[in-house]
Amino acid sequence: MEKINVKDLDLKGKKVIVRVDFNVPLDDQQNITDDMRIQAALPTIKYILEQSPAKVILMSHLGRPKGEIVAAMSLAPAAKRLGELLGEAVLQLDECIGEAVQSAIEGSDARVILLENLRFHKEETKNEPEFAKQLASLADVYVNDAFGTAHRAHASTEGVTKYLPSAAGFLLEKEITFLGRAIHNPEKPFVVILGGAKVSDKILLIENLLSKADTIIIGGGMAYTFLKAQGKNIGKSLLEEDKVGIAKALLEKAKAANVNIELTSDFLVIQEFDKPEDSKIVQDIEDGWESLDIGPETITRFKKILSEAKTVVWNGPLGVFEKDAYAEGTKAIAQHLAGLKGVTTIVGGGDSAAAASKFGVADAMTHISTGGGASLELLEGKELPGIAALTDKEKVS
Ligand code: 3PG
Repeated sequence: MEKINVKDLDLKGKKVIVRVDFNVPLDDQQNITDDMRIQAALPTIKYILEQSPAKVILMSHLGRPKGEIVAAMSLAPAAKRLGELLGEAVLQLDECIGEAVQSAIEGSDARVILLENLRFHKEETKNEPEFAKQLASLADVYVNDAFGTAHRAHASTEGVTKYLPSAAGFLLEKEITFLGRAIHNPEKPFVVILGGAKVSDKILLIENLLSKADTIIIGGGMAYTFLKAQGKNIGKSLLEEDKVGIAKALLEKAKAANVNIELTSDFLVIQEFDKPEDSKIVQDIEDGWESLDIGPETITRFKKILSEAKTVVWNGPLGVFEKDAYAEGTKAIAQHLAGLKGVTTIVGGGDSAAAASKFGVADAMTHISTGGGASLELLEGKELPGIAALTDKEKVS
């Protein structure tokens, strides 16, 4: 059902509480190492501010502090970065509910206020109604722009919608449009690249793709369980022993559904992780060797398939790309995707988004999702609670 968006609300003179996903990576010195999620929230924040006078009260989580106050998980670095990006001061509060927060909002001239990490209260993840009500009491209307957290039924994503008119922000809408179109109505051929460590994380996704994709390319850590299921040697490469049966069943289902599954066929193998200089490329992985990347022949084959696609969804790296010596496969495929013309290229968030920015090709993709788990669940065909809870359009029209 269609949901209202931020443009459907009359925001003049209103206090607008906006759930954003500022769960950004920080280094040891509390510096933000990737501000993509903050940048992605700017269109909604700026639009609300344009409906002057209006106040934007932002709320987010950062990390998983489990109801404790953890100084290293404060949202202060995000407030600072947001202020720089907006070119105006952001009032950073050290709490997210209560009278002090209420009076700070009322008493300040700041147009943009960022509440402290919601997960410093265990009531947030427990979706406790009283906590949601307190968040709602800070504003007149609610906007959800936290796509990365839309798969969580928490107080700030689901509970709060029971007390305020609740609209989608521009980022949330954009994510639903791109990911939704890819999975429900892709221009064909539709090719999906799956990687990352675990088969278990991708079983539902593969099942959903069997009725939609033309080809599923499987690389990265999860490929070895599939190769094992085909009776191949995988040496000491990553294996989910208890998922070999499922991998076998998925390969059979794919065959029956006429979906082409492409697996790694040559490998960059090592004996010791810290000795990449002793690596070699092989077709058959011997005992005692571990594969950490796809080999050149596989890269060429995958590139050829991708060149013939019209829609590509990429979810999960193809090797241990964080280490340069094992990054070649992921880099080559990312660069190839970036160079494709007339192809919709969608990168599921998390590690693949990090890889696209590491290799400098993020801007060349059609869409990079800001959600890891959320994009996965959307592609699995699940309804996301943070979206389902928003006000239905027909209720206000
Ligand atoms: C993410 O980084 O995927 C989102 O911010 C959600 O975080 P969570 O998995 O801790 O709920």
